[in-house]
Amino acid sequence: MKFNLPALLRPRASEASGCPPKEKLPRHIAFIMDGNGRWAKRRGLPRSAGHAAGTEALREIIRTCSDIGIECMSIYAFSTENWERPQDEVEALMKLISRYFLSEIDELIEKNVHITILGDLTRFPQEQKNALTEAMRRTKANTGLKLNIALNYGGRAEILKAVREIAADCASGAQKPEEIGFDTVSAHMYTCGQPDVDLLVRTGGDERISNFLLWQTWYAELIFEPVYWPDYNKQKLFENLNEFARRDRRFGKVKP
Ligand code: FPP
Repeated sequence: MKFNLPALLRPRASEASGCPPKEKLPRHIAFIMDGNGRWAKRRGLPRSAGHAAGTEALREIIRTCSDIGIECMSIYAFSTENWERPQDEVEALMKLISRYFLSEIDELIEKNVHITILGDLTRFPQEQKNALTEAMRRTKANTGLKLNIALNYGGRAEILKAVREIAADCASGAQKPEEIGFDTVSAHMYTCGQPDVDLLVRTGGDERISNFLLWQTWYAELIFEPVYWPDYNKQKLFENLNEFARRDRRFGKVKP
């Protein structure tokens, strides 16, 4: 019996640990960074310590996505529902967000990262608003990774915003109702001009979308990672990217 030794020695796809080739990567990857609170609880720490540890994981993932040439990366940092959390947790998250932008902005600029905030910033305290608008202004001309940070974001609220804007355009005569297409709606999303999400990764073990990028994830591949976000790292990301590369995407059609 003949054996194909090189093939037998090659790691199976599930064991592959490197990054897949560029053409197999998602153009747009989105993350629901869940599990910070449980990560902290397990260690007897306050929930805010979990968010701080989550920021460290985020740093590694942004760096990696930028280095491997991902076009767009979206992260769910604060939802419209998160305001209902205990006040000390909301305050800790606010502080983390402004501190993050102050400490990271130079590296993000150096890496040619372009920051877009998805969501309604009007409800944020002035200090955070300043840090966020400054980060967007300073990275506006950058042509590398498009980093979308969802803050005070909700997928339904985003769709509602688009409906209202399009209705106003129809009322003013700028838009003919019969000419509204999917592209029209996409153009009114915060992600205007970007490709739809190819891969959505949610850490923390729960398997739901939680009002994140409802329009943009219509044919996204979903991966639910059991690890808590602070434990998510480059290695896990590469595993998820390899899993994505193996998926058969048909977009509702039949392959010839
Ligand atoms: C969900 O975990 C996570 C959040 C609501 C916040 C995510 C924020 C960060 C990772 C850091 C801050 C972001 C930036 C942009 C600097 P959870 O608290 O719901 O965890 P649990 O499900 O275990 O309770």
